[in-house]
Amino acid sequence: MAEFTLPKNSKVSSKGKVHHAPEGAKRTRKFQVYRYDPDSGENPRYDIFELDLDETGPMVLDALIKMKGEQDSSLTFRRSCREGICGSCSMNIDGKNGLACTTAIEDCKSTVKITPLPAMDVIKDLVPDFTHFYAQYASIKPWLQTVTPPPSGKERLQSPEDRSKLDGLYECILCACCSTSCPSYWWNSDKFLGPAILLQAYRWLADSRDEMTGDRLDQLEDPFRLYRCHTIMNCANACPKGLNPAKAIAEIKKMEADRVV
Ligand code: SF4
Ligand code: SF4
Ligand code: FES
Repeated sequence: MAEFTLPKNSKVSSKGKVHHAPEGAKRTRKFQVYRYDPDSGENPRYDIFELDLDETGPMVLDALIKMKGEQDSSLTFRRSCREGICGSCSMNIDGKNGLACTTAIEDCKSTVKITPLPAMDVIKDLVPDFTHFYAQYASIKPWLQTVTPPPSGKERLQSPEDRSKLDGLYECILCACCSTSCPSYWWNSDKFLGPAILLQAYRWLADSRDEMTGDRLDQLEDPFRLYRCHTIMNCANACPKGLNPAKAIAEIKKMEADRVV
């Protein structure tokens, strides 16, 4: 896959800092890390961090924690679960979007290049601004909507067959690796919902308990919100959870088409 473009504010200066591995380190690895602090008034830069892999955990997130803990405490990135569940450590590693906590250093290039998710504004270093992404998520009303009252004193039940229709959808951790790898989203993210949000939209369309299917389809039927997907398929390649947003988008388009006929 082609390497992705840098974040929006990415006029990179050549004046990066170099942090050397400790003396005596035998198994060293270089990491080229994007640094940007809007408050400094300076252009973004790349810093080089050299680590002793014998003293570092196996994942890219372990390396970042080591850099921050021992070489430069101002290095800024998001993380929480460190096991691919929270979605907060999404970033671009060697030109491919992914989760730092589930990407092994040994699978990376000899100099590991780490940048924020592409085509998003950067708050600081590896932290992109998710404000717009979350607003788009809220716009699809990602909760169960019903008009009929629930069976008295009971949950709304779902057959195992209907429940299985949510497989491949409910696992999404909203990391945005797919949306920020989608060329249509790069150019039209102000109006196009992008693969992550459309997969979430389909998660509720596919839920047998939801009673607002018509409203949901009305909201999505728009030349930009849904139909800016041109089936380029970067999204399915980028998903660290092995999901296929392009397929979910195709299902929504099919539901829209079936409704017209
Ligand atoms: S299939 Fe659609 S959503 Fe996925 S990358 Fe391509 S244009 Fe974007
Ligand atoms: S579909 Fe995959 S890549 Fe996209 S937000 Fe969900 S988990 Fe992340
Ligand atoms: S830290 Fe939670 S997904 Fe990586």
